Amino acid sequence: MSSQQTVQDGASVVAAEDVRRTYYMGEPVHALDGVSLTLPKGSYTAVMGPSGSGKSTLMNLLGCLDTPDSGTVEIAGQSVSELSGSARARLRGTEIGFIFQTFNLMPRLTAAENVTLPMVFNDDIEMGRRERAEQLLTRVGLGDRIDHTPNELSGGQRQRVAIARALVNEPTLVLADEPTGNLDTDTGDEILELFDELNDRGRTILMVTHERRVAERADRIVHLLDGALEEIEQLPPGGESE
Ligand SMILES: Nc1ncnc2c1ncn2[C@@H]1O[C@H](COP(=O)(O)OP(=O)(O)OP(=O)(O)O)[C@@H](O)[C@H]1O
Ligand SMILES: [Mg+2]
Repeated sequence: MSSQQTVQDGASVVAAEDVRRTYYMGEPVHALDGVSLTLPKGSYTAVMGPSGSGKSTLMNLLGCLDTPDSGTVEIAGQSVSELSGSARARLRGTEIGFIFQTFNLMPRLTAAENVTLPMVFNDDIEMGRRERAEQLLTRVGLGDRIDHTPNELSGGQRQRVAIARALVNEPTLVLADEPTGNLDTDTGDEILELFDELNDRGRTILMVTHERRVAERADRIVHLLDGALEEIEQLPPGGESE
């Protein structure tokens, strides 16, 4: 797929440099207080940290959904703040698959229609869009829920629709905010296997989780504390827990 050619091997898919983001609601909250992070192409990184430590804020900045007050974010070699709104939307649509902590599904669309949506950005999907959506929904265990709308699905099933939607364009970068948080262990493990496969095929993954066991699927764990990077913990190769 064309989007895979945009980042050379050995280059960074994401480079964030000293990003800061303060929310002003009453007392200012320094959600991110100078964080630098690089994601090499094909790397798999987990993000851990207490509630409120800035994990989702970081994901939103790296996913081009928000811009930092200061500092820079580069995605696939392009400085996000220098892009026009439409160029940013296009970058997001073609390079990034975002799995939100809160799903963000379109309530009136069926599972298949939700999964088909991101393909409007992608001209070179060879298989029919509907077929591709069905194939991915089947892959996440929802083959029998294809025409259900979100309010006809459980929380875990909605999460799986959101995961299928994020992966449908085979994005260079997968940003996943607690992707297994609403899933039982077996379903969660299947999703994690899907991530392992994507990573084996060269996709770059950044995943927020509060479970150590889940984080250990990655190559390294970034620990956030009070909006700052506390530690980057390198994990041993092939070191996923039993
Ligand atoms: N839109 C917003 N407006 C105001 N404050 C916000 C906003 N989003 C986040 N914050 C604040 O910024 C801080 C970091 O929030 P963030 O959502 O990044 O934390 P998190 O690490 O993802 O937490 P959790 O594990 O609970 O999801 C928190 O103190 C939060 O209250
Ligand atoms: Mg969060």
